[in-house]
Amino acid sequence: MNHISIALDGPSGAGKSTLARLLAERLGFLYVDTGAIYRAVGLYTHQRGQDPQDEAAVAALLPEIDLALCHEDGIQRMFLGGADVSKAIRMPEMSYYASRVSVHPAVRTFLLEMQKALAAKENVVMDGRDIGTVVLPDASLKVYITATPEKRAERRYKELVEKGVADSFDQVLADIVARDTLDKNRAVSPLRPADDAVILDTTELDLNQSLEALIKLARERLGLGGDSA
Ligand code: DC
Repeated sequence: MNHISIALDGPSGAGKSTLARLLAERLGFLYVDTGAIYRAVGLYTHQRGQDPQDEAAVAALLPEIDLALCHEDGIQRMFLGGADVSKAIRMPEMSYYASRVSVHPAVRTFLLEMQKALAAKENVVMDGRDIGTVVLPDASLKVYITATPEKRAERRYKELVEKGVADSFDQVLADIVARDTLDKNRAVSPLRPADDAVILDTTELDLNQSLEALIKLARERLGLGGDSA
């Protein structure tokens, strides 16, 4: 049986993961946050004391890395070597590690099958950077979610303050701009909208308006989410 897949791509801080989770909830689909897997590879690189920019060093770690992505009652948990690292991978320095390890072709190839396998099992809303272009090129619906860097930094800063792990706003903005540059300019699977993606700019939209826009797309394109829960 063919499953329905919705690919949500876009730069960091555009609201993708929250929107993906809420959309999946509304549709009864599995939400898969692929950034978590890159973050776990980043964390492992850090734990092993390796330079995330050293491709050969990172590639050498891959055969021994023990990654598992589990879903329980719609909540995703990331395991590394059997330990739940769902929280640890959210620390700001793991954004740095994840963005550096994710440029390496060896890492991307290594993680590709894992992501494809998840979408083959169930209806999914999958968020990332290259879901519509590389991981699920035949996704039923592709949306590229974006917003200005300043707006994205503002949202990320607020999130970090709430978690009590805030940098300064200027640092958050600088990190976002640096990650955009890396994500968009890497040689393999750069961040870009798929040719058949719908662009959703959330700069002027709040969370609810963005979610409604996504549900409207799912309804129009896939005949899903007709109820207004
Ligand atoms: O979405 P996120 O911030 O958790 O992602 C962390 C890093 O992982 C980000 O810098 C880019 C990378 N990533 C990627 O290259 N491809 C994906 N499908 C998901 C994330």
